[in-house]
Amino acid sequence: MSKILKVGVIGVGGIANAHMPGWEASEHAEVVAGSDVNPEFLQAWGKKYNVARLTARAEDLIQDPDIDIIDVCTPSMYHAPLTIAALQAGKHVLCEKPLAPAPDDIRRMIAARDESGKMLMTAQHFRFQGSTRAMKAEIDSGALGDVYHARSWMLRRAAAPTRPGFILKSQSGGGACIDIGVHILDLTLWFMGNPPPATVTGISRTTLAKLPGAFSIWGGPIPPQMDVEEFASAFVRFENGATLILEVSWLLHHDTPVEDMQMWLYGTKAGSHWPKCEFYETSNATQQHYNRALKRTENVRPPHAQECIEFARAIIEGAPSPVPAEHSLQVQTILDAVYRSQASGREVVL
Ligand SMILES: NC(=O)c1ccc[n+]([C@@H]2O[C@H](COP(=O)([O-])OP(=O)(O)OC[C@H]3O[C@@H](n4cnc5c(N)ncnc54)[C@H](O)[C@@H]3O)[C@@H](O)[C@H]2O)c1
Repeated sequence: MSKILKVGVIGVGGIANAHMPGWEASEHAEVVAGSDVNPEFLQAWGKKYNVARLTARAEDLIQDPDIDIIDVCTPSMYHAPLTIAALQAGKHVLCEKPLAPAPDDIRRMIAARDESGKMLMTAQHFRFQGSTRAMKAEIDSGALGDVYHARSWMLRRAAAPTRPGFILKSQSGGGACIDIGVHILDLTLWFMGNPPPATVTGISRTTLAKLPGAFSIWGGPIPPQMDVEEFASAFVRFENGATLILEVSWLLHHDTPVEDMQMWLYGTKAGSHWPKCEFYETSNATQQHYNRALKRTENVRPPHAQECIEFARAIIEGAPSPVPAEHSLQVQTILDAVYRSQASGREVVL
């Protein structure tokens, strides 16, 4: 049976494949067309998913009156122009992370969304894990009290993506911050209740990638053209007085086979750890420590699929965007300030 919402995917490389099971499983949306500047990828993708309408021109999908949803899966620097054009053409847009590297571009995307009345969602798939949601609900119910400090990191060992869309600033807008800092920062801010940031002190650097023989387990030698950071760390103060220490890296001599992603939140009532989904408390009344773990209930489908299903459902139900662009603006405002702090050697006041 034909589904109500027709989807056009722009950029059919790596992550577009992770969206396809979601569109296939959605009750409401189906992929009818794809676009990519690489004709070989496009033909192979069309064959794999049985999608016949294929074009090198993204504009063809954006202007197609039969298409309701544009799924933007290109390198990050193309997200804003494609999303704005799609919203202006009256399409709903699911856009990969980061929504756009530059906060001003996100502001323009929000303005285009508001003018069109269509839905815009950032594909922050970690929010769609069952255990992550259970933890968010527990925190929202007051389990931590007031959260006054967070420590978050996403650290990889010799695991940089080496494709041009990630390591050339002209296509990516930045390195590890833009690629993976976005994930852990989005989750941390979401768990904290998205408090407005006040100041950022940060550094970003490229060190190991420039050493002779530098390599990634995901792509062999690190291309010498890489002009983005491999590592960043930051200290963020929020308007409500809370603080955050953030660390991200693609390449680090760290004790992990590939990736170590963690978030610790500390509140007036308890602390917590993600992804362990644990809560820690010390009672003044009993002078005892209490640790508890949430029951982990995962969705049937992977989070990349779940986000597509829920995006389409939100459109049909007239519900708010499951990941509002305003949250992505906050994420990018902080990451952009890390770069500005690196450039000035000073704290950035937002
Ligand atoms: N949510 C996640 O877990 C996750 C994981 C990987 C990548 N991403 C994001 O997805 C985006 C794409 O990453 P990827 O890993 O799929 O990259 P990729 O390089 O594998 O694929 C990108 C595709 O876009 C195509 N493309 C480039 N410019 C285009 C244009 N103007 N019009 C049409 N097609 C174009 C390329 O030919 C390529 O096929 C990035 O923004 C990245 O940050 C998200």
